Amino acid sequence: MSNTLILSIETSCDDTAIAILRSSEKGLEILTNQVSSQVKLHAKWGGVVPNLAAREHLNNFPKLLKIALEEADILPSQLDAIAVTNGPGLIPALLVGVNYAKTLSYLWEKPLFGIHHIEGHIYANFVGISNFQFPISKEIQNSKNIKKKSPSIIENCELKIENSTSKEFPILCLVVSGGHTQLVLMKDHLQYEIIGQTLDDAVGEAFDKVARILGIGYPGGPAVALRAQNFQFPNPNFQSNLNDKISNVQKNTSYGIKFPRPMMNKKNFDFSFSGLKTAVLYETKKNPALLKDKNYIAEICHEFQQACVDVLISKTLKAAELYSPKTIMLAGGVSANRQLREQLGQAIKQFTPNTSYKIPDISLTGDNAAMIAAAAAFRLEKMSDVQKKKAMAGWKNIQASANLQMK
Ligand code: KG4
Ligand code: ZN
Repeated sequence: MSNTLILSIETSCDDTAIAILRSSEKGLEILTNQVSSQVKLHAKWGGVVPNLAAREHLNNFPKLLKIALEEADILPSQLDAIAVTNGPGLIPALLVGVNYAKTLSYLWEKPLFGIHHIEGHIYANFVGISNFQFPISKEIQNSKNIKKKSPSIIENCELKIENSTSKEFPILCLVVSGGHTQLVLMKDHLQYEIIGQTLDDAVGEAFDKVARILGIGYPGGPAVALRAQNFQFPNPNFQSNLNDKISNVQKNTSYGIKFPRPMMNKKNFDFSFSGLKTAVLYETKKNPALLKDKNYIAEICHEFQQACVDVLISKTLKAAELYSPKTIMLAGGVSANRQLREQLGQAIKQFTPNTSYKIPDISLTGDNAAMIAAAAAFRLEKMSDVQKKKAMAGWKNIQASANLQMK
């Protein structure tokens, strides 16, 4: 990787995010990663209101940009490029980020890259600098005088950018976010083949809708995951196991709640989560008074989460059987889900032990701009001089697109 500094902007939904990333032979190092969350603003509506999000992005931008440049200790003249999410997402929200990026690109005379939001999530997996070549002593790590500018160096992850070569490809990436659920096969960097995807709701969307049905808050994913933790297994020896014929498992729980695992036994790699969400709705209609019972909520959340995890893992393993990837990777907001992270890791160990497993640092699972700069760093690296020159006119050409396709 050549030495470059990239400033990136992400406003596809309700997070205003600006990052500055240094790319070098050591890897991708985050100098600053500012995310201003609008969760409180949208919580009372139970979901993101696009025009409100856009207005907030506009308010947040000047402050965030100033903080980012100060924290990274970078002058605009030092930057090599600007990158911005140009889709998919909420168009009013995207337009703010894209127009801001175009203005900066024009004013500062820097090339501008439009990056697909999901490509960003995928490349969150490649952020990090090698702690093998450049060990940091405990004293330095604990020093109060040194600001922690990058997320913790990726642990349990042997694959750093300098050895991020053909050795780790093909990569099978399970993308799980609020808008997407896809299995993406990558034969090389920046090459994507979508081999399966949801036919209706995305898995994150299903978490959000279930949380709304249960009245437990927004965003739904963390709220459901938290309630699921409170579920008490009546039988301490019980553990979900992919080898079990899941529908036949005798769980003997307080409420005996059992949800379907949609499309789990279909041969293709597509998903469906809307029926699962409806199953939760029907369950709650049986006896609405039970919604006040914490144990009932915990059991629903646990069973719903486990149904999602079972389907996601089983489809990923089936795809791995067919495509024999060298690496399986997780990406997107739902990749913060601890059960998914852990159970997928265990399943890979058990069923396809020669495949590496790569997950993003927890701080980079949700929407952020560092992941957008990471994808741009790889794009920049692959570009010819002619293409780089073209990017100089990015401020004229890049457009926001709500349904941008990943190419
Ligand atoms: O990637 P992301 O931040 O935004 C989109 O690109 O959509 O993903 C947001 C989604 C939301 O649906 C949120 O509920 C879900 O990720 N999410 C989770 C968890 N944390 C966030 N879902 C399950 N478990 C979590 N811990
Ligand atoms: Zn996202």
